[in-house]
Amino acid sequence: MKIDVLTLFPEFIESGVHTSILGRACENGLLNVNTVNIRDFSKDKNGRVDDYTYGGGAGMLMQAQPVYDAFKSLKLNKENAAGDVAADGITRKQRVIYVTPQGKPFKQSDAISLSKEDEIVFLCGHYEGIDERVLDKIVTDRLSIGDYVLTGGELPALVMIDAIARLIPGVLGNETSADVESFYGDLLEYPQYTRPEIWEGESVPCELLTGNPKEVAAFRRSKAEILTKKVRPDLYEKYELRNKCIKELLKDKRNNIQLIEALRRGTGEIICTEPLIIYMPCDELVLVDTNAVMDVKEFFDIIPDNIHSIVVSKEFGDILKDVPGLEKSCDVYNYVYTENVHHKIKNKDIRLLDEKYADFVGKAYELGGYEYAVSRVRDGVVYGIFEDGEIAGFIGCHGEGSIGMLYIDEKHRHKGYAADLESFMFNKDLELGRIPYGQVVLGNEASIKLQEKMGVYGGDKILTWLHL
Ligand code: ADE
Repeated sequence: MKIDVLTLFPEFIESGVHTSILGRACENGLLNVNTVNIRDFSKDKNGRVDDYTYGGGAGMLMQAQPVYDAFKSLKLNKENAAGDVAADGITRKQRVIYVTPQGKPFKQSDAISLSKEDEIVFLCGHYEGIDERVLDKIVTDRLSIGDYVLTGGELPALVMIDAIARLIPGVLGNETSADVESFYGDLLEYPQYTRPEIWEGESVPCELLTGNPKEVAAFRRSKAEILTKKVRPDLYEKYELRNKCIKELLKDKRNNIQLIEALRRGTGEIICTEPLIIYMPCDELVLVDTNAVMDVKEFFDIIPDNIHSIVVSKEFGDILKDVPGLEKSCDVYNYVYTENVHHKIKNKDIRLLDEKYADFVGKAYELGGYEYAVSRVRDGVVYGIFEDGEIAGFIGCHGEGSIGMLYIDEKHRHKGYAADLESFMFNKDLELGRIPYGQVVLGNEASIKLQEKMGVYGGDKILTWLHL
């Protein structure tokens, strides 16, 4: 990921990003931070970039011109306010973040959403801020790190860069550690202990020494609940709401599984309860209650601006598909694996696919398009099945959590590889405490047959996928 930072203090940013884990990410090429000194674009002979505010008031304001010229000096690929058109065919807007105490609170969901971009720009202010006109022209997101005022935007930008960068696959070394931690599922993280078992007369809680994963998980959850209730009652309220919704949705598990799993896995955030609308920042997606049909304007007022995809009932989808800019992608049924039994796998040569296979997957997977398939490989969620060292097919996990992208090469069909791949994914989900599920496009008879063979049950409500 490339991050450009427009700042008056590039050395501040550089010292932060070239240390510790971010430093290693920069060395490994996972992160590329480019700083631009706004002062270099001053037209004043003394290099001034600030002036008095119109209307009076204490302090100075950064002027529009040097900020705008610094921004225009960036070589951006996406459509942006400097007039660049999308060089790589991506028509989405370049995200430019202005860090300011007047911004929206920066949350984990913002970090997740921003970590999916290939390039982002930060603008750091100083003095009393920046002339509003240039902000209106170039900025897409205004974000604050908290209700206090710092001397400048560099520390908040570093805070956000850290939170974003650690979500980039490979940055944290241990891939699962970004998955099970604070602010996922609305609970603060439970207290943790390491060796020695007894320190200063204090022992590690005995529940953690049992070696029983279920007991350990129950203990941790209970500790997390107690802690959250005490120090963050606002979060605890969200946690309770989430549990209440899950309970309700489980009454129709097959048709609601995408909503249930988004809430259970902590990847979805409830943004509306009547009707239920869940925002998934990892994929810039919203999932809507499978029974809901609502007013289109009201719907767009609720959902975030950066949404890419929408999953709704067919009835609501039929209304949304006529909205300009929205394109219907497909109609699907849910398929849910309702048993908690691991499947046997005949061909055991199933491995996570790396970059080497991105092009192969991109070309073979038709439904979501080349770019999408390649990005799933890069996100580390596509697995290949091999015969004599040669790739015979693959399967993956979509951003919202469903198992899919199944593909078997012509010459390797009818060998049971599709069932092996699907079994592999089911087992993996079960190990993580997830309910395995997939979505099958209407009329895909081969896939329906496979689901039936696997003991997977289908919903009876048609869901529609739309893309913006
Ligand atoms: N600039 C100064 N204070 C800030 C804050 N709390 N968040 C973001 N940017 C800032």
